[in-house]
Amino acid sequence: MRDRIIYRHWRPGDDDAILALLLPAEQFSISKDYYQKKFDADLEPEGIRLAFVNERAVGHVFGSRTFLFFEGKPQKFGMVTVMFVAPNMRRQGIATRLMRDLNAYFKRKGYRGSILYVETAKAYQLYQKVGYQEVTRELRTHLSPRPNSSLLKWTEVNRNDFDILHQLKKRWASQNFPVYWNVQSPEVHQYNMKQYRVLRRGASIVGYAEWDEPSEHRPQGLIREPMVPDEDPVEIITSVEAAIPSPRVWQTAEGSRYENPLRSLGYALQRTDWADMLLSFGPEIDWTGLARTFW
Ligand SMILES: CC(C)(COP(=O)(O)OP(=O)(O)OC[C@H]1O[C@@H](n2cnc3c(N)ncnc32)[C@H](O)[C@@H]1OP(=O)(O)O)[C@@H](O)C(=O)NCCC(=O)NCCS
Repeated sequence: MRDRIIYRHWRPGDDDAILALLLPAEQFSISKDYYQKKFDADLEPEGIRLAFVNERAVGHVFGSRTFLFFEGKPQKFGMVTVMFVAPNMRRQGIATRLMRDLNAYFKRKGYRGSILYVETAKAYQLYQKVGYQEVTRELRTHLSPRPNSSLLKWTEVNRNDFDILHQLKKRWASQNFPVYWNVQSPEVHQYNMKQYRVLRRGASIVGYAEWDEPSEHRPQGLIREPMVPDEDPVEIITSVEAAIPSPRVWQTAEGSRYENPLRSLGYALQRTDWADMLLSFGPEIDWTGLARTFW
């Protein structure tokens, strides 16, 4: 006879069993230390859904709270991460049940929907089966340095730029979807400002981008699509070409403001396996009039 599968949320004392399931799973960079400090304002015990067989954890998913800026305001969404089922227990509906329980919890919390990133075809099918739809997919290209006399200039972030960057993000959020919104503090602050650059037209700041310089881990760096609400995308791309001394990876999204301008400048865009998927609770979320973004 098959052992019975118990489904429930996290309880004190579960961590050792969960770590025995997750630590061998190399795709998650979870450490024991991180797992033991997991709870904060965005993650509650009810958001960790588990499957057990006898005392062994065989399924795990994290459902935390996030905010997306939508319909003019930040709204609460569930965010799904670290979905994992023990290899010898797959294809028995465990992940489907964990997702249904998690979505029921998100609904009880009054969230507007649930969002996740997915990388593999089988997980994509799982999420589709429980009602998620693809919002957008990550695209990448290699931007080449091209000296030019762009009037838009990229510079380092200054401490007194934070407020204006926050306002620019709000404006970007009214034109693009989905945009994550940190309700506690502005996204760019003194502890992470070195990872960003601001774009200036003369004395005015018109936008910003997350901008990783090349490193051992990422030899061509990574520039996430600049959040520049009111400038021409071709000009923005040209300004980056003028600012880089060697090729850089540029990350954008299908349906973004940059997709067609990049193609028109001769860049080939590579479709990656990373998709953003969304499930609405209550009225369907309509993102058709908005450009897509990977922010
Ligand atoms: C993805 C994963 C969580 C699925 O867990 P599971 O318990 O086997 O999933 P389920 O049995 O509930 O299957 C649900 C649906 O997912 C899809 N699916 C799951 N495994 C699949 C596979 N090997 N091939 C194709 N589709 C698959 C199917 O559509 C399936 O529905 P069906 O059985 O009615 O056809 C599991 O394979 C896993 O842990 N993989 C490694 C971690 C991972 O990729 N996590 C997702 C990160 S985004």
